Amino acid sequence: MNILVTGGAGYIGSHTLVELAKANYSFIVYDNLSNSSQESLKRVSKIIGKDITFVKGDIRDKAKLKEIFSKYKIDSVIHFAGLKAVGESVKKPLEYYDNNVVGTLRLLEVMQEFDCKKIVFSSSATVYSEVDAKNYKPLTESSPTGGTTNPYGTSKYMIERILEDLYISDNSFKIAILRYFNPVGAHDSGTIGEDPNGIPNNLMPFISQVAVGKREYLNVFGSDYDTHDGTGVRDYIHVMDLAFGHVKAIEYLNTHEEIEPLIVNLGTGKGYSVLDVVKAYERISGKKVPYKLVDRRAGDIAKCYADSSYAKEMLGWEAKRTLEQMCKDSWRWQSNNLGGYSNG
Ligand code: NAD
Ligand code: WQD
Repeated sequence: MNILVTGGAGYIGSHTLVELAKANYSFIVYDNLSNSSQESLKRVSKIIGKDITFVKGDIRDKAKLKEIFSKYKIDSVIHFAGLKAVGESVKKPLEYYDNNVVGTLRLLEVMQEFDCKKIVFSSSATVYSEVDAKNYKPLTESSPTGGTTNPYGTSKYMIERILEDLYISDNSFKIAILRYFNPVGAHDSGTIGEDPNGIPNNLMPFISQVAVGKREYLNVFGSDYDTHDGTGVRDYIHVMDLAFGHVKAIEYLNTHEEIEPLIVNLGTGKGYSVLDVVKAYERISGKKVPYKLVDRRAGDIAKCYADSSYAKEMLGWEAKRTLEQMCKDSWRWQSNNLGGYSNG
């Protein structure tokens, strides 16, 4: 029996393949390579010491998906495929809804047709409505959702609702919705990692590029937030911890019958500010990370971190790696691969 991993060539997907292989799951990767390259899979293959079955294709392509479901015995799906740039989604809403929402609908239709009823979905902390920084409480799975401020976030929220409605219509579906906080870091081999196109939107890859000398300085977006040092606080989670969360989610679906959709936060429960991350990165890399304090970035909030106790209770999962480990692995990946995967 195989797991179909959509978006498996991407950042989180590729790291998850390593953990799936370690737990002896077999899988097929389906990816249109719109934001990744096959080089990541070659490297995963090296790490796990096995060839990877890869099919290049789009989740909106029903005919191709049907071919795969006909050819391979697919028992479950881990669904990473999607576009994820918040700013871009504001400029290209139709593309985002088509890729993420319509793509997921096509995938679910084919799953239903082939009686494949287990799915783990990559959701995001972005589905939570904004909370007051002063009275901040770590986000639990029952914190209010839906106050999304951009098409990317809304697409995740819509897909969560679609999955819940699907379950209501057909309760033989077993669904795990994983709300990731801020995934960072890389596999400790330093051979796979995050390889953003162009100027990184996210903090950790930007810091890495400053530390390695690719960019001059970091813009710190906002220094007047209601946080311990005025800069934004987030729940950074090591991508290998996150990856292992998917193994636990699959295990959960495989060992429980007639379950309602499981919604869990995957975070550490700890919040670090932008300057906390900068300092940790400097310590670990031995490099200076020059920065400028600039205006807030539109749409940002002061604080966002998880209450991660439900994942522990339901999946027996918790994040283990520290911020230092995240910086260390991110630095190893960055300094060994100056041009990301295009290095060769
Ligand atoms: P990524 O861009 O590295 O990986 C996504 C993969 O999906 C890429 O390989 C891309 O080529 C592929 N893809 C995109 N659209 C596709 C389509 N229509 N058909 C087939 N393949 C397609 O992103 P990631 O960081 O690995 O994120 C994986 C998932 O996790 C995404 O759904 C993302 O929204 C979600 N997520 C990411 C973060 C984060 O900060 N990285 C946080 C929360 C949730
Ligand atoms: C983190 C902190 C910034 C860059 C985004 C998406 C979210 C999820 C994860 C997918 C914030 C500050 C950043 C920079 C900075 N993705 N920052 N200078 O915004 O928490 O979450 O990625 O689901 O949906 O919104 O992550 O890494 O962009 O920012 O000061 O150059 O770093 O203001 O406080 P964010 P991030």
